[in-house]
Amino acid sequence: MYGYRLGAIGIVCTFFIIIFSTVLMPMVLFNPKPSEHGNTYAKTELADAARGRQVYVREGCFYCHTQFNRLQDRGYGPLVKAGDYVYEAPHQLGTARTGPDLTNEGGRFPSEWQKAHLINPRAVKPGSIMPSFAHLSNQDMNDLVAFIQSLGDNRKPVAYVEAPDEYMATTEAGRKLIARKTVDTNSSSAANAGRGIYTQNCAACHGLEARGNGPNSISLEKKPANLTRPFYKQYSDEMYFYRLTEGVTGTRMPRFGEVLTEEQRWYLVAYLKTLQKDKEDTVDSLAQIDKVEDIKLPVLSHQEYEPHAGQ
Ligand code: HEC
Ligand code: HEC
Repeated sequence: MYGYRLGAIGIVCTFFIIIFSTVLMPMVLFNPKPSEHGNTYAKTELADAARGRQVYVREGCFYCHTQFNRLQDRGYGPLVKAGDYVYEAPHQLGTARTGPDLTNEGGRFPSEWQKAHLINPRAVKPGSIMPSFAHLSNQDMNDLVAFIQSLGDNRKPVAYVEAPDEYMATTEAGRKLIARKTVDTNSSSAANAGRGIYTQNCAACHGLEARGNGPNSISLEKKPANLTRPFYKQYSDEMYFYRLTEGVTGTRMPRFGEVLTEEQRWYLVAYLKTLQKDKEDTVDSLAQIDKVEDIKLPVLSHQEYEPHAGQ
């Protein structure tokens, strides 16, 4: 009989220890300082972004949209830090990404687009499964759009292209890594050495010209990066090195830390740094597209289609 009692006490204690260590302790101990990157919800004559936030909460946008952007989330803009949320109550982290993360949605589209999208998502995004919010009043709609446009207003893209701490001189591991670096990543001879390694290991996906159009790219759902984009000029050596070493989560970009030596990866960094153009290549006229030769199929003479079986 006492066995049962002991067991019950044990279960209750375990339960409270878990709640204590995962809920109560962090509540007391986790107090991030406000960062300078939190959103400011401005009020103009036309619309009140702070009120728009309430509409966002009321309509449950957070069921489908998150507002946290981590290192492994690609394409959502600058990253967030704990301090960004100090004044956000209730926070809108969200749970599922049925729709995209909205951390940095502000300024991505004109306000008229945002409004049209809220009224009928499929009018501007064919195939969208986002529900229509046409029932909102004009004031609600304006405020909500003002809120959307203020998201990410204090974040600068530079935070996006920082390698994690283990790769930076701010930690012991990072300092050791940099101390071991023997390659001068700004020299053209290192870049030349990197070019050979690139052709062997990367060109199949990223393409010989590094425009993300290698033969393998056809079969990849998440396309290889176009490394000639001006965007990559802001990448530091450490950021390139980090990407090469750990790959890109959620894509086929391999973890070359397990394949290439540190020296080889630094050579690659030297090469990648030479690739960026001043202006992104875009196709503006048909003349820019290489004319593809007509495909000539062999002529089938004296042959007929086989009738279907059973006919
Ligand atoms: C049922 C899930 C769902 C709900 C609820 C929802 N959305 Fe969406 N949302 C989506 C999906 C899916 C997309 C992607 C397709 C598209 O752009 O329409 C999207 C896209 C968006 C985009 C465009 C993002 C981009 O950069 O392409 C914005 C802005 C947006 N939603 C805002 C809102 C707001 C504001 C609300 C609340 C009023 C809301 N959503 C509610 C699913 C949802
Ligand atoms: C199997 C195909 C594949 C191979 C091989 C490959 N990559 Fe990638 N690479 C990708 C994909 C896919 C991405 C992700 C693109 C994205 O996130 O949009 C990527 C991303 C990257 C990025 C990060 C870009 C960014 O935006 O941060 C770098 C840098 C990169 N590759 C360099 C290389 C180098 C150098 C090699 C050879 C050592 C290589 N890749 C080999 C497919 C490949």
